[in-house]
Amino acid sequence: MLRICEFTNMKKLIVANWKCNPTTLKEAKLLFNSVKNGVKNIKNVEVVICPPFIYLSNIQHLKSDIQFGAQDCFWEQNGAFTGEISPSMLKDLGVDYVIIGHSERRKYQQEKDSMINKKIKAALKIGLKPILCIDKTSQIRKLQRSVKMNEVHRLKKDFWGAIIAYEPLFAIGTGKPCSVDKAKKMRIAIKKKLNKNIPILYGGSVDSQNARDYVKKAGFQGLLVGGASLNAQEFIKIVKNVAKA
Ligand code: 13P
Repeated sequence: MLRICEFTNMKKLIVANWKCNPTTLKEAKLLFNSVKNGVKNIKNVEVVICPPFIYLSNIQHLKSDIQFGAQDCFWEQNGAFTGEISPSMLKDLGVDYVIIGHSERRKYQQEKDSMINKKIKAALKIGLKPILCIDKTSQIRKLQRSVKMNEVHRLKKDFWGAIIAYEPLFAIGTGKPCSVDKAKKMRIAIKKKLNKNIPILYGGSVDSQNARDYVKKAGFQGLLVGGASLNAQEFIKIVKNVAKA
């Protein structure tokens, strides 16, 4: 049985994807501590930091109200899979979220929908909250096709425990965010394809100027922030602006 996570009355969610940054543990601790201090009085936004795997255990004990996420996980819980990190290992470390299917992994690690699908299921099974990244609604159809027919009806249910991050390719790391209107249309289309209760985040060139509009005008549950999350002051501003939304 897959564990179904509850998202009713969920707070706004701001997820920092540090990607392959920073290059030293010292910088990672500094960044984490600055964000921790900057957001400590904000109660109506859940802040999640997804550092590279290698920093997770080192900064996890500095824990505050900030939650932790990983940037990927494997689809098996243990075994002869050199170099992989399993959902069980992340759970044991106190990690709550895991980003799955980021477009950079699809591009540089050739991750396929069938692999992504297995990862989502493995994460849900152990009680992690997967954040599934998609850049177009057709990816949902492909994910549904990538499982055997008798699993298809279950897949919809599987998505109950997942969070979707809509991250259009043209907006990632380009400084050219998706227009709020287009993002809103996509959010509505994704909800129609899955279910109306699924939380959807927006990601792609989010900064402190545009953050609030994606939540307030486009109706997203929150944001997945890349580059701007490496600048503590900018990231804190994003959280504060969304808290006011
Ligand atoms: P940027 O915020 O740097 O565009 O990156 C978005 C992203 O890929 C978050 O996962």
